[in-house]
Amino acid sequence: MTDFNNKVILITGGANGIGKATAMEFLSRGGTVICWDINSEQGDKLLAEANNPLLKFMKVNVTDRIAVQKAMSTIIDEHGKIDVLINNAGITRDATLKKMTEDQWQQVLDVNLSGVFHCTQAAAQHMTEAGKGVILNAASVVGLYGNFGQTNYVATKSGVIGMTKVWARELGKKGVRVNAIAPGFIATEMVTTIPEKVISDLENKTPLGCLGQPEDIAMAYAFLASDQAKFITGTTLSVDGGLVI
Ligand code: NAI
Repeated sequence: MTDFNNKVILITGGANGIGKATAMEFLSRGGTVICWDINSEQGDKLLAEANNPLLKFMKVNVTDRIAVQKAMSTIIDEHGKIDVLINNAGITRDATLKKMTEDQWQQVLDVNLSGVFHCTQAAAQHMTEAGKGVILNAASVVGLYGNFGQTNYVATKSGVIGMTKVWARELGKKGVRVNAIAPGFIATEMVTTIPEKVISDLENKTPLGCLGQPEDIAMAYAFLASDQAKFITGTTLSVDGGLVI
């Protein structure tokens, strides 16, 4: 198993769900992990649960470009570098095309698309100066295949897949790899808004017969961040139990 000793890993939306499981995975492999999140209550719980001096929590809203730049400078001042950025923060505000408000549309774009742009721009500057780094983005299977009631969310997740390809092309020769993961349906708070009947239909449609766990995604992030994936860039890896074969 790859270790991340002396590596600095930044995870946005790291206080809960997939982000939290990812923080735990990298910590268990010796990484120095910084979680950014707007939910400081969950952040404090994570710190208590992990009880590991290599974990740091910072209250940062990824939609706030200036706050992102300042927080990135703090990381560089304190640790001298950033090795891995995981753009995990994401939200849903579901409604059909007919009912979706401009506010629902904009909120999702602000977090899932602009937030990823702000964080990547801030991190890429330091990574390209260092001549190495890994950027990993949270896409979704719905960004590949669409989904009822998710115009805003699907637009952002398809956008993330596109940005991943652009950044892989722009940053590859500067030593920076960029990939995305497209999770299927994973048992986190995000899916609690999905009706039970829809969940059981999804489980039936999934060849592996169940929802994924946050740890399934965390392990895939750890693989893509490791040197074992040193020739992989610009790709979107589906981790979905076979849901969209
Ligand atoms: P979650 O809702 O459990 O956790 C998301 C975290 O992001 C929360 O801690 C939240 O406070 C934080 N966050 C929200 N807005 C933020 C902001 N503006 N700045 C900083 N942090 C913010 O979500 P989950 O399920 O762990 O999802 C993580 C990522 O994986 C998201 O990008 C999501 O779209 C993606 N994903 C999740 C799937 C699932 O089935 N759970 C499926 C496909 C993709």
